[in-house]
Amino acid sequence: MNYPQELIDEVKKRSAGMRLEGINSGSGPKHPKLMIIGEAPGRNEIVNNIPFSGDAGKELNKSLAQIGLTRDDVYITSAVRSRPYAIKKVFSKRENKEVTKYPNRKPTKKEVLAHAPFLDYEIDYAQPKLIVALGNTGLERLLGLGHKISEEHGKVIENTPILRLNPQKDGYVWSKQKYTIFPEYHPAAVFYNRKLSDDIIKDWKVIKPYLEKEK
Ligand code: URA
Repeated sequence: MNYPQELIDEVKKRSAGMRLEGINSGSGPKHPKLMIIGEAPGRNEIVNNIPFSGDAGKELNKSLAQIGLTRDDVYITSAVRSRPYAIKKVFSKRENKEVTKYPNRKPTKKEVLAHAPFLDYEIDYAQPKLIVALGNTGLERLLGLGHKISEEHGKVIENTPILRLNPQKDGYVWSKQKYTIFPEYHPAAVFYNRKLSDDIIKDWKVIKPYLEKEK
């Protein structure tokens, strides 16, 4: 996806001063079989401009394959399209001095709001019917604060409006359009808790019949 320059300028203005690096655009076809909404790109994605191209992406590819899809069938994006980074001073034994590191971190709510024009634009462009929200950030962006993947993963939310930027551009309003949402663990969750992998396999099975219905 090539974002229009005015949209990039708008988001840059909205996110001025935030610790966000680069822009990795979302990608996929119009009318995808599924839209996948993650959290934010990491280092790999900023370098090669391909969403979910690191280790989390390999896990995501496995889940897609499980339901007979490839990346070409789906539109992939996230709530924030730049890499949120922290600034950490650590002592490097190798260099024998203090060095500054810029690790990935979770985006803040303000950053998600600042980047809302990108996601709204992509949803309008792709016009998905079925959306997988990967992780709490994506789920809260679509359905509001307080939604939790740990409670809602594998449950289908049918015929629901989603949140879009309001006309004043300082908060959200509900969309007129309705969607079917599948809340699911972010694929990186298994790196911290291997036990989730059985749940993830079970949850993705729930999506398959909906793909058949939309054919
Ligand atoms: N995590 C995300 O949410 N998106 C990416 O593109 C990569 C990792």
